[in-house]
Amino acid sequence: MTAYTSRISGFYRGSVAQRLDALSEHAGVAGELRSFFEDDGGGLSLEAADRMSENVIGVHGLPLGVALNFLVNGVEHVVPMAVEEASVVAAASNAARMVRESGGFHGHATAAIMTGQVQFDGAPDPEGAAARVMAHREAILRLGDEAIPRMVERGYGCRDLDVRVLDAAEGVVVVHVYVDVGDAMGANMVDTVAEAIAPALHELVGGLIGLRILSNLPSRRRVSVRCEVTDEAVGGAAVADGIARASRFASLDPFRACTHNKGFMNGLDAAAVALGQDWRSIEAGAHAWAATGGGYRPLSTWKRIPGGLRGEAELPLAVGTVGGSTRAHAGVRAAFELVRVADARQLAVVLASVGLASNLAALRALAGEGIQRGHMRLHHRKEEAAEPEAGTWMK
Ligand code: MEV
Repeated sequence: MTAYTSRISGFYRGSVAQRLDALSEHAGVAGELRSFFEDDGGGLSLEAADRMSENVIGVHGLPLGVALNFLVNGVEHVVPMAVEEASVVAAASNAARMVRESGGFHGHATAAIMTGQVQFDGAPDPEGAAARVMAHREAILRLGDEAIPRMVERGYGCRDLDVRVLDAAEGVVVVHVYVDVGDAMGANMVDTVAEAIAPALHELVGGLIGLRILSNLPSRRRVSVRCEVTDEAVGGAAVADGIARASRFASLDPFRACTHNKGFMNGLDAAAVALGQDWRSIEAGAHAWAATGGGYRPLSTWKRIPGGLRGEAELPLAVGTVGGSTRAHAGVRAAFELVRVADARQLAVVLASVGLASNLAALRALAGEGIQRGHMRLHHRKEEAAEPEAGTWMK
């Protein structure tokens, strides 16, 4: 094998076997990993599926592809993607190639601070309750930590509290607990903490205890990414202008922002599915984030810089490299072998980069030839069952 790289030219032209050859040369897909992709049919045995879910009668397949050309914080990543929509994988690869010419994606993820909520109704003295909870902050956090001792041993655990009075007249108070969940997605851990601290909070808040559950808007667990592309890479100054105008359109109009964000999430979700992540939670968090601060905003923006564009995105992203189906699903384990991320924070930055790439590809197609011409090409290709080429609506 040569050094691991995501820059493999002509990949899309080959047969599945030739693509696996190329991955074996450039991305370590050899031995067991290669036979897994060749033979296994997805990596989920009926037995494992039956353990994972209920009323199981089979397993559901999706095409698994790889997005190439991703350089993120100077590191190569071959990104597995599971998606039924044609052109999402080609689009992400093509945009990543353009971005790569300007140094790739750069990003940062915060520590994995998840949010748990404990709800109270009919609290007799909501403002006083907030003060009492904050006065007992350390003791409450310790109680929470006692519920997740193994995480605390590893240096993670409860970090902070926050009290929000949602309706003073009705005494609706919610206590937020912030938990560093390390490399896990963290839902179970946060639910455990919320349940563990609820009785002690009840003594301080009074009223009726309500829900004890994580929030899927983990506003303190965020990822931000940015990149640049040149006019030349996107097809000229007019196309770059069009991309910036499309971005402005999304910032002015929720109807457009929704579609803009769908295009962003196209790639992110596909990679998240391949990597066994809770994509419902990712989707819920992304759109709720887009709607914070009044109105509904685009998750990403594209602005003109001299000779090109700068793209930026920020969103909450609860993803894990341990727990959940990262252990139970052999296909997910194989996908992790491909993408080579060291931890959950690196995974978050890679996924957000894939989102930004998908978004760029979509805006470029829309600002250029428009979507329908490409769509027709795609339908034609499907009818002929021809070999996939990059010439889809997102080319
Ligand atoms: C289609 O899956 C996604 C797009 O509609 C996104 C966009 O309009 O930006 C092309």
